[in-house]
Amino acid sequence: MAEPITLFHLSDIHFGLEDTRALAWVERCIDEERPTAVAVTGDLTMRARRHEFAAANSWIAALDTPVTVEVGNHDLPYFNLIERFADPYKRFRAIESLLERELDLPGLAIVPLKTTARAQWRWPWSNGWITQDALRQTLAAIDAVPAPKRVLVTAHHPLPERRADGKLLTRGGTEALEELAARGVLAVLSGHIHDPFDMVAETAKGPVRMIGAGTLSRRIRSTPPSFNQLTYAEGQLTVKVRNLEDVPTRKMQIDDVPENALPPRRPQEPVAPVAAVPESDPPVH
Ligand SMILES: [Fe+2]
Ligand SMILES: [Fe+2]
Repeated sequence: MAEPITLFHLSDIHFGLEDTRALAWVERCIDEERPTAVAVTGDLTMRARRHEFAAANSWIAALDTPVTVEVGNHDLPYFNLIERFADPYKRFRAIESLLERELDLPGLAIVPLKTTARAQWRWPWSNGWITQDALRQTLAAIDAVPAPKRVLVTAHHPLPERRADGKLLTRGGTEALEELAARGVLAVLSGHIHDPFDMVAETAKGPVRMIGAGTLSRRIRSTPPSFNQLTYAEGQLTVKVRNLEDVPTRKMQIDDVPENALPPRRPQEPVAPVAAVPESDPPVH
């Protein structure tokens, strides 16, 4: 019988606003438990500053395990707009040399899918966008994995294209989910929204399991800092959400993909009414 594979799925560390206590705990877990691999699904930094990448670089380099990292929307140059457009992945490439973006494990392959865009024809740029090119590359990598090896796809943004109320989330997500369903991937791992989840997307070509990891930063949404421990044994993938507060896994997992990582507005925080401005109002200087 094949050895079980243990994968630690971390996300949204946001160096620059990292939770040092949570990071020290994860480091200890990796050191003591020796997972087969670590997958980081993006947002390594808060603002893609050089010193944030340097901190991410040395933290990841010190992990004594195979690591795969995806780029997140926070890893593109934020302040330097020229660099953002001209060479958005330059700073990320500085760290990429340390990492294996595709991992080949016994019985399991980890294949990345890029969901970030330097700029889009709609606001906000932080939303996911799967280009035809990015999808083609991922599908080609999946098609090259020999059976019966299973595939885990890693991405930064969750793939659903729209929220239940119709709001746009990840452009190109519907087609990506359909193609991944058609290929029978084991699951898609993602981050971005800072709360963990484990849900199934139904597509025209079958179901796809989507697993999200929470954050290890101080930018928490509705759950404490956490990471996912994934175990693959005898064809089954199980998820445990590990966190410093010992909150049970199911209570850590949210049931729908929200729009972003900001905390949900509480009922006691009413939105201030915005007065309509009549067109005839005099201009304010
Ligand atoms: Fe994030
Ligand atoms: Fe993000």
